[in-house]
Amino acid sequence: ATARHAALRGCVVTFRANPFVTAPHEALSIEEDGLILITDGKITHCGPYDQTRVFLQDGVNVKHYPNRLISAGFIDSHVHYPQLPVIASWGEELLAWLQQYVFPAEARFADKQVAQAIAKTFMAELLRNGTTTAAVYCTVHPHSVDAFFEESERIGTRMIAGKVLMDRLAPDNLRDTARTGYEQSKALIERWHGKGRQLYAVTPRFAITSTPEQLELAGDLYRSRDGLFMQTHLSENQKEIEEVARLFPNSTSYLDVYEQAGLVGPRAIFGHGIHLHEHDFQQCHDTGCALAHCPTSNFFLGSGLFRLFDAKAAHRPVHVGLGTDVGAGTSFSLLATMGEAYKVSLMAGAQRLHAIQAFWLATRGGAEALHLEDKIGTIAPGMEADLCVLNPEATPLLAVRARESKDVADLLFVLMTLGDDRCVEATWVNGQCVHERTDASPR
Ligand code: GUN
Ligand code: ZN
Repeated sequence: ATARHAALRGCVVTFRANPFVTAPHEALSIEEDGLILITDGKITHCGPYDQTRVFLQDGVNVKHYPNRLISAGFIDSHVHYPQLPVIASWGEELLAWLQQYVFPAEARFADKQVAQAIAKTFMAELLRNGTTTAAVYCTVHPHSVDAFFEESERIGTRMIAGKVLMDRLAPDNLRDTARTGYEQSKALIERWHGKGRQLYAVTPRFAITSTPEQLELAGDLYRSRDGLFMQTHLSENQKEIEEVARLFPNSTSYLDVYEQAGLVGPRAIFGHGIHLHEHDFQQCHDTGCALAHCPTSNFFLGSGLFRLFDAKAAHRPVHVGLGTDVGAGTSFSLLATMGEAYKVSLMAGAQRLHAIQAFWLATRGGAEALHLEDKIGTIAPGMEADLCVLNPEATPLLAVRARESKDVADLLFVLMTLGDDRCVEATWVNGQCVHERTDASPR
């Protein structure tokens, strides 16, 4: 039986404003000795321990995390679960890497048992890393979506996922047709969208592997139910961009291909968006879609540098989330992803990413990008109780460096620069502890 009530005590860090608009130190809220009360998976109270303890229900045990930071669970806005087995595959850029490593790995998902086994490992890996919501690509096989949502439902996570649509320029055993892809997606939407915490994303892989007819039908699906997501790839690699221009001679830009199919709008998530122009950013701003910044992947495949501060320009800010993009990404950790995003910011423009901005992108900013900010991404009454507990002293090196820290912002920077799953002491989902590091856990 699961307990209806829970309580966590520790240093609570969350957001009261957007640090790309407000000065970072004013945007971050820090409660050094905070108490979070939870009932039926939702936060009911959050405040200073001394003032909040009066609301504790009789008999509820307070889980105390001294010297730990409690954050909203991390949000991974772009990741491929079938690619878990081929993470860290050597030697190719995007299109050759897909052919050589990814398509063979995804073909193995024709067997549902393979999908079930990888879904289990994948979900456990997310939780080990403090990730509580992700926008996930499955494979072209409908049962790959069932396997994933079944595991997410068992744990209680809020997840976004969908069946990949590919009706051309992919191996025979990984292609659907515009019609079968539509029908299969429709059935999966009926089965999963809005079931408990599960949300469906219409998932055309990218413009190269879908015909204009398939993209058009994907647009019909995206509009067919309230709250549906759409996810795809956009402007990641130079050869990809040239191929898209060749395949869609009547489009004015890569983004325009998706626009013409009716795929650009709220809850549309575009992976990468590296080589975009001012006009594209304006269109993203106007339509409310989101870009997923995937720095470890963009380094790994040599794709380029995402211009985060151009995307976030005050006169037309674009929604941006952080994505690990595993298997092109090299880490499941949003901490490691933030650390790489900092390095990208140094290479891509004049402004450097602040630690507080990085943590906002991984939590509240990601939630806003997904239009889920009323449910996840901050620690406040009424929000769903998805949390991660961070240990800034998880290794001997971190312990020494943490002692030098003068404030929480500096500690956050240490965590994103040096941290990974070892720093995630516990992960809470829907008010239940679903991951806890013990001395027996691999360091
Ligand atoms: N573009 C089309 N498919 C993929 C994929 O699986 N990974 C990445 N990084 N880019 C893509
Ligand atoms: Zn991707």
